[in-house]
Amino acid sequence: MSVSPLLKVRDVAYPRLQVPDLDRMESYLMDFGLARAERRDKVLFMRGAGAAPYVHVIHEGDPAFLGFAFEADCREDLDRLAATPGFTPVEALDAPGGGVRTTVVDPIGLTVEIVFGIAPVAARDGLQPRPLNMGDAFQRIGAAQRIKAGPSRIKRFGHLALNVPDPAAALAWYQARFGLIASDRVNLAPGMPVAIFARCDRGADPADHHSILLASHMASGGVSGLNHLSWEVGDMDDLQAGREHLAAKGRAHEWGVGRHLLGSQIFDYWRDPWGHIHEHWTDGDQFDASIPAGDHSIDIGAVSQWGPNMPASFGRTLPPQTA
Ligand SMILES: [Fe+2]
Repeated sequence: MSVSPLLKVRDVAYPRLQVPDLDRMESYLMDFGLARAERRDKVLFMRGAGAAPYVHVIHEGDPAFLGFAFEADCREDLDRLAATPGFTPVEALDAPGGGVRTTVVDPIGLTVEIVFGIAPVAARDGLQPRPLNMGDAFQRIGAAQRIKAGPSRIKRFGHLALNVPDPAAALAWYQARFGLIASDRVNLAPGMPVAIFARCDRGADPADHHSILLASHMASGGVSGLNHLSWEVGDMDDLQAGREHLAAKGRAHEWGVGRHLLGSQIFDYWRDPWGHIHEHWTDGDQFDASIPAGDHSIDIGAVSQWGPNMPASFGRTLPPQTA
């Protein structure tokens, strides 16, 4: 059923949100663990601790999720896309690190950018793995573990989740253009998925279990659009220390800490002042392209292996009570 894609994207790069107050958003995102990369009149670029010059783009205007970017392997991929109906001509990216892009509008009206050539920057801090004493592997002998209080160290933008009318049709659209492949499907009945976790096809190289989750909008009152945005943090201590920092700042917590079932990430979800859900996660599954998709009945039940139950509010943009 799958067709040969126009290209195989390497990863997701950043989302684009729109909110009416960039100062307020910057303050929230600093508590979340991001740092200002560049601020312009009507747009804010925020970065993590990794080599990407920015991992979140916020425009000024009425609250909205505008779209997101995939990263391509080479410029030729963009030229090929740009010659395909629906894609814009290749143009320079007016953003830190430069690069080029072409764009296309997806079936629910989001602008999907395909980017290449964004120049990396020096990492803000090392994100070196902390040595752990776990199981039979003791990595830290003769030294104490000391975790600095403060926001999470964010490694990268990791994935996004969308609410869509038909997850199978949405995956077919993304597969045909960008080569995404299913990792796990949750099925209402055989062949009727209500959620599909899809990853980038990197051949023999491993990829995150999902770069995009396509969820039926039945669970979001029939409203399509953003479910959540997700950034990978350095490790479990980053997630927990970052959680305490966000709580101390009075930010709106949504769900966590827990460990997901499909994808296995340890997760924690927060809402920005306009209700967009931002996730911290760590320790997710890595699959190469040879791993076949898993099919699960909706009776699979818990979406977590441990942690609190998913709140009814999860998966849609709702202004939090504390905003
Ligand atoms: Fe997620």
